[in-house]
Amino acid sequence: MTGQVRGIQLARLLGQWHALPGRRRSPDYAALAGTVRGLLADGRLPLGVRLPAERELAEALRISRTTVTAAYRQLRETGHLASRRGAGSWTMLPGNHRVASTGLWTPLDDREMLDLGVAALAAPPQLLTAARAATEDLPRYLGGAGYHPTGIIELREAVADAYAARGLPTSADQIMVTSGTQHALDLVLRLALAPGGSVLVESPTYPNALAALAGRRARITTHGLAADGWEPDLLLGSLRQTRPNLAYLIPEFQNPTGHLMPAALRERVVAAAHAVGTDLVIDESFVDLPLDGTELPPPVGVYDRHSRVISIGGMSKLYWGGLRIGWVRASAPQVQRLAAVRVGVDMASPVLDQLVAVHLLADADAIVAERRVQLAVQRDALLGALAQRLPDWRVTVPRGGVTLWAELDGPVSSALARAAEEVGVRLAPGPRFGLDGTMERFLRLPFTLPAADLVEAVGRIAAVRYDLDRTGRRRWREPAVIA
Ligand SMILES: Cc1ncc(COP(=O)(O)O)c(C=O)c1O
Repeated sequence: MTGQVRGIQLARLLGQWHALPGRRRSPDYAALAGTVRGLLADGRLPLGVRLPAERELAEALRISRTTVTAAYRQLRETGHLASRRGAGSWTMLPGNHRVASTGLWTPLDDREMLDLGVAALAAPPQLLTAARAATEDLPRYLGGAGYHPTGIIELREAVADAYAARGLPTSADQIMVTSGTQHALDLVLRLALAPGGSVLVESPTYPNALAALAGRRARITTHGLAADGWEPDLLLGSLRQTRPNLAYLIPEFQNPTGHLMPAALRERVVAAAHAVGTDLVIDESFVDLPLDGTELPPPVGVYDRHSRVISIGGMSKLYWGGLRIGWVRASAPQVQRLAAVRVGVDMASPVLDQLVAVHLLADADAIVAERRVQLAVQRDALLGALAQRLPDWRVTVPRGGVTLWAELDGPVSSALARAAEEVGVRLAPGPRFGLDGTMERFLRLPFTLPAADLVEAVGRIAAVRYDLDRTGRRRWREPAVIA
């Protein structure tokens, strides 16, 4: 058991459960149970947590206790809840799943799986060379204790230089090295968001950011992205009306949609955020990956005169996720405060890994050039296979990043992901990127696997898509969990 979720917390997670599309004829208890299953499948409600007592949840949702009792009964019947008299009810998943050490649930046997659930590349060949060179550098650090809460100076300087090269003058004391971008986000949230604080996010957005926000019990409002990206008036209107404590945005090749925020909107967002007292957390995970010669607008931080913008980024997308190196760019005092927060978490990042990062960044130009060519080839292979095998799906060609956001020919994303898993393809279905169980018409497809694997994966997806219709399944199957 990992904890307990209270009635109001679950009510918040459940959102608009009673008004979800397609539930007109199903009773309230079934809709409630279905939404809890969706939250479990999306990883937004952890496994092994104790759900609130029936009466508590009924009060939080302002519905009758009988409805909650019936929903819990159905969840027990479908294998999503285990109850013990007097002790309560715990969340679980039916069937062949286990808890990995990360707390995420992964299927038992996935060695042969074509994994389109993860949007990250294999390591570049330069990684081994960088690792060897790093071990040569290590003796310089071995005489000290090895704790560098803001990171080793060489890496902070290299990261600061990269910001300066993008037009945002930055000094090393404005950089804090973290163990990945996700860690950077978590630390920033610990510093800048009181538990229960309000946060604006894009919808769809990066699911693990939602997980980090859930960890702060954030009250989340969303800005729905249109087919061509942010709607300026709506985004600025949301900021002005909801005045969130913080907004989390991914302006470069947004995950999952691939959109690039134009310069004019960047400037207006910073001004609006300052006017209403909102801090901006800008996730620049994909900033190094424009494709087709796309020109990048200035970094959001360029428009910041009041330390409203905290930028986070890292090595995972351009270099390798297994390196676990990320960073925060903030004002020097904010970096000091982050370091103070960090000592209560993990003290510092590994010195050796930071040295590897220094060597990779020194080789950035060559690696960037190769990665861009590789990604453009893979993206085009994926687009070609989709046009051939799934011509009814609509995709906008992303001008960078590593993902396509495909609009399907029906609300079948979760069902398709489940069926694809059976033929060896793991998918991240649309609802994984939203808050309210919607987005069943969408699917994120990364182009990070080799071209031949992508073509093979699309062939298998197309086969099961066809089967979904042919076998005329009356109900969608339970969505697979993506780790
Ligand atoms: C938008 C975004 N932020 C953060 C991360 C996490 O990156 P890291 O591996 O550096 O923690 C990812 C990885 O997919 C991402 O897409």
